[in-house]
Amino acid sequence: MTVLVTGGTGFIGSHQVAALAEAGESFVIVDDGSNSDHSHVLDHLTELTGHRPVSHRFNIRDTARLAAVIRRHSVDEVIHFAAMKDLRESVARPTAYYQNNLEGLTSVIEASDTAGVRKLVFSSSGSVYGDADQLPILEDAPHRPTNPYSMTKSIGERMLSDLCESDPSWSILALRYFNPAGAHPSTLIGESPTRRRTNLLPMLLDVAAGHQPSVDVFGDDFDTPDGTGVRDYVHVTDVAEAHVAGLRATRASSGFQALNIGRGEGVSVRQLVSAVETVTGRSVPMRMRERRPGDVAALVGSTDRANRCLRLKPPKDLLTIAADAWRWRLETDKPSSCWAKTSQPCRTAS
Ligand code: WQD
Repeated sequence: MTVLVTGGTGFIGSHQVAALAEAGESFVIVDDGSNSDHSHVLDHLTELTGHRPVSHRFNIRDTARLAAVIRRHSVDEVIHFAAMKDLRESVARPTAYYQNNLEGLTSVIEASDTAGVRKLVFSSSGSVYGDADQLPILEDAPHRPTNPYSMTKSIGERMLSDLCESDPSWSILALRYFNPAGAHPSTLIGESPTRRRTNLLPMLLDVAAGHQPSVDVFGDDFDTPDGTGVRDYVHVTDVAEAHVAGLRATRASSGFQALNIGRGEGVSVRQLVSAVETVTGRSVPMRMRERRPGDVAALVGSTDRANRCLRLKPPKDLLTIAADAWRWRLETDKPSSCWAKTSQPCRTAS
């Protein structure tokens, strides 16, 4: 079996490649490098896995080229990550998000279909639920996307469920993850240290590392226990391992299914600040600001169905997430770190 990983040099995609290698699965990467330090990540994945990943650098919307890669490598199944994923950016650039994310998914479906591939794990998002009626959120809850990013994920899921209705030879699993965070314990891969940081945990570590004087807290008047936004932070390696389990589940099933991937525990901004201060021993001052457009008060997923269907290990806890992210930040902040010179090959390049 060979797995195509689209977006395989991105934050979650690179951890997925590491998990597939660990699980003894064969894979090939297609990534256009638009939101990753492509060659550096490949160098570090080479060091981490012991083999240089087979990788092709082009945009997945080139359907003919994607189909050719699928045929050339005898791909049997796909894990599709490649998409734009910045919630706030999607509010400012809606058309770019609809075009990139939906045309990209359509291209993956068409290229897979022509090559006879019928198994797909789709990177969806807990943000499709929007402002849910109850927490933790069950998979049956209605979709109430509140921004273009989450709308592209909701529409993507509908495209895939309609596909399965039309052709029962497909087996598709949508994994709705909440807030992937942390970094690989090896400190070889993590959230890109060179790209614009927008997610909360990297912003808090910027302050702990002395790069910023304080963190802007977008809203402290939400209907939550301490007024700040609540999310379900889940270790990125747990997300990757859930995809491996999900891939194997699609081999024995057919039709469309969606599962939440999280820890099932709501953590507020203030609580994450406290966790970062605990693992770093540094103070993280907060500056209260207005809410972000499209932001919801709380997003926490029920993990019961995923644990039952995928038999997942207990998730890593919040302090482990923060500690692994901090070690990654300390590593990539070193002046000697190859991340300081992404234009040059890594010292690890074999
Ligand atoms: C978390 C909380 C903010 C930054 C992300 C990704 C999206 C999706 C889900 C996968 C919110 C607050 C943040 C800051 C803050 N991933 N915050 N100050 O918005 O849940 O979405 O995860 O599908 O791709 O964008 O995550 O980390 O941006 O925000 O107060 O500087 O922290 O308001 O309550 P979000 P986030």
